[in-house]
Amino acid sequence: MKIAPSILSADFAALGEAVARVEAGGADQLHVDVMDGRFVPNITIGPPVLESIRKRTRLPLDVHLMIVEPERYIETFVRAGADLLTVHAEACPHLNRTLNQIREAGAKAGVALNPSTPPDTIEWVLDDLDLILVMSVNPGFGGQAFIPSSYAKVRQIKTLVGTRPIEVSVDGGVNKEKAWALAQAGASTLVAGSAIYGAQDPAQAVRDLRTASEAHR
Ligand code: DX5
Ligand code: ZN
Repeated sequence: MKIAPSILSADFAALGEAVARVEAGGADQLHVDVMDGRFVPNITIGPPVLESIRKRTRLPLDVHLMIVEPERYIETFVRAGADLLTVHAEACPHLNRTLNQIREAGAKAGVALNPSTPPDTIEWVLDDLDLILVMSVNPGFGGQAFIPSSYAKVRQIKTLVGTRPIEVSVDGGVNKEKAWALAQAGASTLVAGSAIYGAQDPAQAVRDLRTASEAHR
């Protein structure tokens, strides 16, 4: 199981330290939430902050774009340091083109699905993507409650993916109590914000999440 701490729940005034902590805890990649106040009702950070993070860590940067017209910013985010760039299916009328643009820019391509978006939306782009981000909350804020139907959705997506080498990542309300069931459903990456940065020791929280995903307690 890969663990991707979301810095959304970190102290933005001490971002360098927040990144170092989860890196010390063995995080596999860093999840960076970009919000524009239009696709979602919140505004976070953009390319300059990503660039600063890039200089501070060797972890792959998993950038989750919650913005309208993401195709306009692909080059910019890849240049700023994104290794993996995820766009929302709901924001992309030409999803095939957008995914190809991400790969051509030199990053891995991901698609995020809102809780109400059916998995078959991505059926015809499965060969054009590297990661599917299953939203288990409505995107926009950290600290929301996990939507239970997400387990079944992960299972359905896993069936759709078949033997393709596609990561299935789950984002929203993920904590160690849900990690085992998500692993069983077929998740290969867990994104967690408040469960990691809300803990006393974020490095230990990364380890705990991984342990919980690998053994039933
Ligand atoms: C929500 C973001 C998530 C968020 C998760 O819109 O996409 O990545 O940081 O935070 P938690 O784990 O607190 O739900
Ligand atoms: Zn996210």
